[in-house]
Amino acid sequence: MASVGDARLANTTPREAWWLQVLPVVLVLSAFGVYATLRAFEGAFFQWGPYLSPFYSPLIDVHHRYWPFSPALLILGGPLGFRVTCYYYRKAYYRAFFLDPPACAVPERPGRRYSGETKFPFILQNVHRYFLYLAAIFLAFLWHDAVRGFFFEDGIGVGVGSIVLLVNVTLLTLYLFSCHSLRHLVGGKLDCFSCTTFGRPRNGAWQGLSVLNERHMLFAWLSLFSVGFADFYVRLVSSGAIRDPRLL
Ligand code: FES
Repeated sequence: MASVGDARLANTTPREAWWLQVLPVVLVLSAFGVYATLRAFEGAFFQWGPYLSPFYSPLIDVHHRYWPFSPALLILGGPLGFRVTCYYYRKAYYRAFFLDPPACAVPERPGRRYSGETKFPFILQNVHRYFLYLAAIFLAFLWHDAVRGFFFEDGIGVGVGSIVLLVNVTLLTLYLFSCHSLRHLVGGKLDCFSCTTFGRPRNGAWQGLSVLNERHMLFAWLSLFSVGFADFYVRLVSSGAIRDPRLL
């Protein structure tokens, strides 16, 4: 017999068609998770000419002197931890995968009580700020890779891959700079900017980050697509499936 909670979950009106929001999140995150896992374990087709897949950057022990498996597995934890603990993604996958709750004003499944992130394992989400520091290091490597993507064997040039890597790192930068933890770090914890050292520049930086922060969800999705596509593109040219068109 269906419980009151089940009935309320099922009988939401079209205006409350919460599953329309949940379904794309489930599909996109699942597809990305499967693709990224397969690519991380593949350990091949991650480099071509000046291009390096973002899944493999920074490239460590590529000749397998100390690590016999895919080099991507050595670095996967950094970007993955940053995304998994991201405040926006937390909201998205709590709703999509745990239905906890499925959407605003829609009750949770019967028997579940939201307890926040005060207990294990979800209390570990609080390490997000440390993943932010780590992500900043990764971003520096990705900028290095993007610039290197313009240096071909026969000199400086522009290939489609150069643009793909550049767009990707730009979107990843916007994603990182719109991070809630970064905004808090710069000025969110202050009550008074004029009472603190470097108050004026911090206020300016905080305001700039706040503009980006309002679009954090957008940058989260765009950068997820771009990082997957950048890897896919490098795989295509590296495996010989396509040729990288040279634009300049
Ligand atoms: S809150 Fe999303 S990256 Fe920090």
